[in-house]
Amino acid sequence: MGQNTPAQKIGDVNSLTVTDNRTGKQYTVPISRNSIPATAFKAIKAPKGPKDRDEDETEKGLRISDKGFLNTAVIESRITYIDGDAGVLRYRGYPIEQLAEQSNFLESAYLLIYGSLPSKTQYSTFENEVLLHGVMHADAAGFFRAFRYDAHPMAMLTSAYAYLGSYYREANPSLEGQALYTKGAKGDEAALRNMDKQIYRIIGKATTLAAMAYRVRQGREFVTPPTGLSYAASFLYQLDHLSPSDANYRPHPVLERALDILFILHADHEMNASSTTVLQTGSSLVDPYSAVAAGCASLYGPLHGGANEAVIRMLISIGSPDNVPAFLAAVKKREKVLSGFGHRVYKTSDPRSFIIRKVADEVFAVTGKDELLDTAMALHDAAIKDEYFVSRKLAPNVDFWSGLIYRAMGFPLDFFPVLFVVPRVVGWLAHWRQMMLSPDGVKIWRPRQIYVGAEKRDYVPVDAREPVDGPMMSPSVVPHSGVTKRRNISEIKSKL
Ligand SMILES: CC(C)(COP(=O)(O)OP(=O)(O)OC[C@H]1O[C@@H](n2cnc3c(N)ncnc32)[C@H](O)[C@@H]1OP(=O)(O)O)[C@@H](O)C(=O)NCCC(=O)NCCS
Repeated sequence: MGQNTPAQKIGDVNSLTVTDNRTGKQYTVPISRNSIPATAFKAIKAPKGPKDRDEDETEKGLRISDKGFLNTAVIESRITYIDGDAGVLRYRGYPIEQLAEQSNFLESAYLLIYGSLPSKTQYSTFENEVLLHGVMHADAAGFFRAFRYDAHPMAMLTSAYAYLGSYYREANPSLEGQALYTKGAKGDEAALRNMDKQIYRIIGKATTLAAMAYRVRQGREFVTPPTGLSYAASFLYQLDHLSPSDANYRPHPVLERALDILFILHADHEMNASSTTVLQTGSSLVDPYSAVAAGCASLYGPLHGGANEAVIRMLISIGSPDNVPAFLAAVKKREKVLSGFGHRVYKTSDPRSFIIRKVADEVFAVTGKDELLDTAMALHDAAIKDEYFVSRKLAPNVDFWSGLIYRAMGFPLDFFPVLFVVPRVVGWLAHWRQMMLSPDGVKIWRPRQIYVGAEKRDYVPVDAREPVDGPMMSPSVVPHSGVTKRRNISEIKSKL
């Protein structure tokens, strides 16, 4: 790396030759696995040009600008591979179709986290550990009951993970030493055991916390996770078990398997927003509970975990198959968005959407067909043939069908992101563990910025200032009555 001599260039195929036209100097940048190190560009320096500001730091080396991480690889990973053009998704090399058909969620979780499919004994030990760790502390009931009656379940779940971390001093590098987990990279068995224990706890309690967030809004008692059921069945049991006389309740096997498959499909998707958030947060060596809470917060956003809910709201607004042409016309005029179509990575059908379509039929055979299905089918069939979508490579993604399944199974719309978090916790932990055990150690994720703000200026005393006003330039004026909504209606609005 660095400034070139001509000899370096010849035959050096796995490299870039970069000419800095500001200085005429040439540099060689190595290419490894079809990627270049961004730090190599830091060696490319030039004297400050006439248009450069001090803040551009021209003499300190070139920076790489990539807003929204459109083409920046932030890790080397062995976990999940996606080929967006070919519609390929593999966990640790295994095609998602094979896992959905032949594996189950906890086996796929083992695969994602530890790298290979477990033996029978390895699987049963892992399953036992995860299910054993499902039980929550008794005082968590008070925690959930402290939320307002109409709290969103994602607000509860996000807080619940941070709350959960407060129980385990031994899991916290801020309290027990910053190498608590990274020591595992050198084979420290106690560190690895400690790490795995937190993994069992976080996966085991994912269903319990989600079920508690569900039941508290219904004013129902919480359910201790049952024994002898699969992970998905245990979750359904905790959601739906009603009374001691109902102890033999068993979730419907078709719905249990459908949920298990949905969990497999949602377990990981490489560097999506929430996994990146977990890694960014985890890179400060914070405890995994805080990192998972951060992941929950990221997933809650409408551009990430909210898309399947948006599909249902879109289908309700369309109303019937007859209205599909008018809706598509509005999409093409950019008045509407076709939720459930398009993907940042997939430029053909999301491979998960085919699997989910099949699962949907199996679920509907039990629950009855969702009333929105005909509209969904008409919309799907029209869009995949439409030039607008074909030319932009916009195809159905996983969210197009998943919401219909959740709705048919009776889940409320605002619970959909929770059903995404429960399995995605596995992907987050797989990435977090891989990072903690990195042989090169953990570097804190501290990106750079291009500063375009004000240059140095001197403080102006208040009496000498020209006020800066206007939208986005100063704080908004917000109505503030200081009374309840009802008093507001009678006492304030009536006077307006
Ligand atoms: C997922 C998504 C955010 C990807 O965005 P992206 O990679 O930035 O794609 P772009 O915004 O560059 O889209 C390329 C073109 O297709 C259009 N487009 C993308 N998704 C579209 C959609 N769902 N409906 C209508 N037009 C869409 C864009 O307007 C753009 O058109 P243009 O080139 O004429 O300006 C986007 O496809 C989307 O909003 N989809 C709907 C929401 C959704 O289903 N999200 C879940 C993803 S799993």
